Amino acid sequence: MDAGLTWSEAMSWTHQVRGVIAEDHFSTSIDVGDHVARLVMRRCHQVAQKYGIDRPWIVDVGAGSGRLLGQLLALGFPADRLLGVDVRPAPDLPVHWIQGVAPRCLPQVDGLVFAHEFLDDIPADVVRDGRVWRTDGAPGPPASPEQLQWAQQWGNGVCGLTRDEAWQQIVDRVVVGEAIAVDFSAGDPVGHRRGRRGAWGADICAGVDFRSLRARTGGRVVAQHRLFTDHAVLGDRAGLGAFLWLTVTRPRRWVANPSASVTPAG
Ligand SMILES: C[S@@+](CC[C@H](N)C(=O)[O-])C[C@H]1O[C@@H](n2cnc3c(N)ncnc32)[C@H](O)[C@@H]1O
Repeated sequence: MDAGLTWSEAMSWTHQVRGVIAEDHFSTSIDVGDHVARLVMRRCHQVAQKYGIDRPWIVDVGAGSGRLLGQLLALGFPADRLLGVDVRPAPDLPVHWIQGVAPRCLPQVDGLVFAHEFLDDIPADVVRDGRVWRTDGAPGPPASPEQLQWAQQWGNGVCGLTRDEAWQQIVDRVVVGEAIAVDFSAGDPVGHRRGRRGAWGADICAGVDFRSLRARTGGRVVAQHRLFTDHAVLGDRAGLGAFLWLTVTRPRRWVANPSASVTPAG
């Protein structure tokens, strides 16, 4: 990787060009057990009941190896209403799969869209002193007016503009139901290689600013340790328990052209 790249260029390079497989380099709350899957399924059923969704889907954005989908299958969620979306090829699971770049490849959804450790992978620039910084620590090109405005409102560091836009698009795909983003909320870009931080040429992710996400779409932010109070790992405030969940609920919208509102087909 060229050290003179900006951070967003380096992140795009690892995920979309070189196809780095994130789980090869670190593990997430999904690997701890099926606790997250159980909560996701419960939320899906609750929102379906509340808004009268007959056949709700669960769409996992940035589904990786499909581990969460496999857990949902094992818990009894119907395979024909599970959809994984990732730049990676489909896993060997009897679920729907879209191999593509999200959020633009996402279909419209009745049900629940879950983005677990997805937004931290969306390429973002580091903006300080009006410049976009490079991975080698040198100042790069001037920040765009939109980036400057974002930095003025939310502070210097990882500029969350691209994440805000991706999140807005994810929420907009929900015709009726709920969108949930789960991620770590702060931190400069960091590379991981086989569990070791700070290793370049591997997966690169960066903290997600939930203040700006929420300002875009509304919704409710809850720390993970509040959702898993009895779990030693998921409830650990100094570890995975510090991750944040942003939940945005979408009641059924009036759709001018009903044929425009489709569920994922395959
Ligand atoms: C950190 S992994 C998380 C995997 C899984 N959700 C979990 O929490 O265990 C992020 C995943 O998002 C995928 N990804 C990153 N950017 C993407 C994009 N723009 N569109 C689709 N998938 C993307 C990566 O390939 C990777 O599988």
